[in-house]
Amino acid sequence: MPFDHNDHYHRLLLRKLPPHGRTALDIGCGTGRFARRLAERGYEVDALDPSAEVIAEAEAVGGGPRYRQADVTALDLPEGHYDVISCLASLHHMPFDTVTRLRAALAPGGTLLVLGCYAGMTSWDVVASPANAAARVAVYATERLRGTHTPPLKPPVAPPDMRLPRIRAEAARLLPGSRVRQLLFWRYLLTYHRPAGS
Ligand SMILES: C[S@@+](CC[C@H](N)C(=O)[O-])C[C@H]1O[C@@H](n2cnc3c(N)ncnc32)[C@H](O)[C@@H]1O
Repeated sequence: MPFDHNDHYHRLLLRKLPPHGRTALDIGCGTGRFARRLAERGYEVDALDPSAEVIAEAEAVGGGPRYRQADVTALDLPEGHYDVISCLASLHHMPFDTVTRLRAALAPGGTLLVLGCYAGMTSWDVVASPANAAARVAVYATERLRGTHTPPLKPPVAPPDMRLPRIRAEAARLLPGSRVRQLLFWRYLLTYHRPAGS
């Protein structure tokens, strides 16, 4: 049933954008849904993903971002360049310390937004599971009524292997001043602002 946990948090992420941002990088962009939302807000967006299949789909849709088939861990990112770097459900596909390279690519005053997946159960699952079932039924019913449902191409997925306490500890170590907030649907939001004068 078509309820996407990552897409569900787009609005939350968009509320975290810095006020005068111009340049953005979306890491593990999949078929480009969040990259296009950044472009709609006037950002010049670079969007990358190592999967040829999802990049082909993203390019077919278009919508403004410059898509590139690339593995971020093997790429030289420009230093101090991006006002926003976003990483939706993709950081757990790579070593967590990739965040230090993302931090270096942020312009002073820039914002890193990681919508991440964590391993294991938490006490929130008691609420998340029924809320998830209800949301799936609601989205499915709405799409049936509107006649809008087309099954999306699913980007590559991988199970996360870090639990939330370790993610919090690593974020504090590698990105001092960052904030990690647990979200309902098996996700966390890591927010880091590079200080303007650094
Ligand atoms: C679960 S999907 C999420 C896709 C998209 N961000 C979304 O919200 O729908 C994870 C994506 O990360 C990409 N990915 C995996 N390893 C990567 C890497 N080393 N560099 C960049 N992207 C990577 C995968 O190809 C996949 O498209």
